[in-house]
Amino acid sequence: MSSNKTVLISGGAGYIGSHTAVELINAGYNVVIIDNLSNSEKEAVDGVRKITGKDVVFEIVDTCDKTALRQIFKSYDFDSVIHFAAYKAVGESMAEPLMYYQNNLVSFMNIVEMMKEFNRPNILFSSSATVYGEAENLPVTEQTPRQPATSPYGNTKQIAEDILHDCCRAYEGVHGIALRYFNPIGAHPSALIGELPRGVPNNLVPFITQTAAGIRKELSVFGNDYDTPDGTCLRDYIDVVDLAKAHVAAVNRMTDCKMDAKYEIFNIGTGNPISVLELLTTFESVNNLKLPYKIAARRSGDVPAVWADTSRANEVLGWKAERPLRETLQAAWAWEKNVRNIK
Ligand code: NAD
Ligand code: WQD
Repeated sequence: MSSNKTVLISGGAGYIGSHTAVELINAGYNVVIIDNLSNSEKEAVDGVRKITGKDVVFEIVDTCDKTALRQIFKSYDFDSVIHFAAYKAVGESMAEPLMYYQNNLVSFMNIVEMMKEFNRPNILFSSSATVYGEAENLPVTEQTPRQPATSPYGNTKQIAEDILHDCCRAYEGVHGIALRYFNPIGAHPSALIGELPRGVPNNLVPFITQTAAGIRKELSVFGNDYDTPDGTCLRDYIDVVDLAKAHVAAVNRMTDCKMDAKYEIFNIGTGNPISVLELLTTFESVNNLKLPYKIAARRSGDVPAVWADTSRANEVLGWKAERPLRETLQAAWAWEKNVRNIK
C-alpha cells in the first residue's frame, strides 16, 4: 500500500526499528526517526538511507525527556507513532530494575501523553512473547492468559500494554496496537543493517554468529533435558524483515481506520517451534560451517517452549511470515561478516 503519510519511529536506530523504517519507506511512508543511541549507532540510520535511497530524518532525542519530545511533536506532522525505544536485556533488568521501569515506562507514557496533547491518533507498541511466560497450552493465542512477569523487563511490557489499553479506552483520539514479537532474528538481505549487541550477547543467534566469527570460543546450549523432542528449548524465531513488514501491515490498518476496537493485540511469529540444536545445525549447514558448542546447565528463567498461533495476524492484518529459516540464518551470518570485515 502506498501513502505519503509520516510515521514517527522512536528507537528507530535500533535493530527492529531500522528494519521497520526500511519497510515503511518501501511501502511509501515518510519516517522520522528519534533515538538516544543508548543501544545503537547512527550508522544504522545511514544503512536505512543507503538501502532506500531516501534522506531519512533523524534526531537524537531521549524519549524520557518530555521537553525534547514535545519539540518533535511540534516540528513534524505525523498520524502514527511506532514506539520501539526501550531497554531489552532481561538479566540486566533483574540487576537494575529501576533503570528498566524508568526508561521503558516513562518514555512510553511520555509518548502517549504527547499523542493526546497533539491529537496524533495511532500508536503501535513493541510488546513481547515474554508476557505469556510459561503458558499452559501451546501454541499461544492472543487470548492465552498472561502469566505474572518473571523479570522487571517483562513486567514493563505487561504494564505498558495495560497503560495503552487504559489510554485507548479513556481518550477518544488514541488508538493502539500491541505487537507481541516472538524471537526476532536475522538481518536485512543487503547486510547493511542488522543486530549489533553490545558486550556478550544474551540471545542465541548473535552468540552463534559471534562464535562463527571467532569472537566467542564456543556456544553453550542451555539445557538438553527439557521435555521437548531433542531436549533443548523450543522457540518461534521470526525473521526481522518479516517482523518489520508486520509493522507496515499494522500501521496500514490504523491509518486506514480499519481497526475493530480501539486497542488490538497481535502475535507476530512464524507458528513453527524450532529447537536450539535445530537452529544451530541449520545455521551450520546453510553457511557451510562447523561451530564449537557444549551442553551447559539450564539458564534460569528460560521457559521450555513457546511459539505463536499467528492466525489472527494472518487473517486480520493479512500478514504472514515468509522468509525461510535458512535465508534468515544466511543473512545473520552475512551481516556479522560485514560488521567484522570477514571475507
Ligand atoms: P534495540 O536495543 O536494538 O532498539 C531499541 C532502540 O531504542 C535503541 O536504538 C536504543 O538506543 C533506543 N532507546 C532506548 N531507550 C531510549 C530512550 N529513552 N530514548 C530514545 N531511544 C531509546 O532493541 P530491538 O531489538 O530493536 O527492540 C525494539 C523493541 O522491541 C524494544 O521495545 C524491545 O523491548 C522490543 N522487543 C524486542 C525483542 C527482541 O528480541 N529483540 C523481542 C520482543 C520485543
Ligand atoms: C533462545 C533459546 C536459550 C543463548 C529473549 C527474551 C524475550 C524476548 C526475546 C524481548 C533459549 C537458548 C540462548 C545461548 C542457548 N526479548 N540459548 N545459548 O530467552 O527465548 O527470549 O529474547 O522481549 O523476552 O527473554 O531468547 O535468544 O536468549 O534464547 O542455548 O548462548 O536459546 O536457552 O532456549 P529467549 P534467547
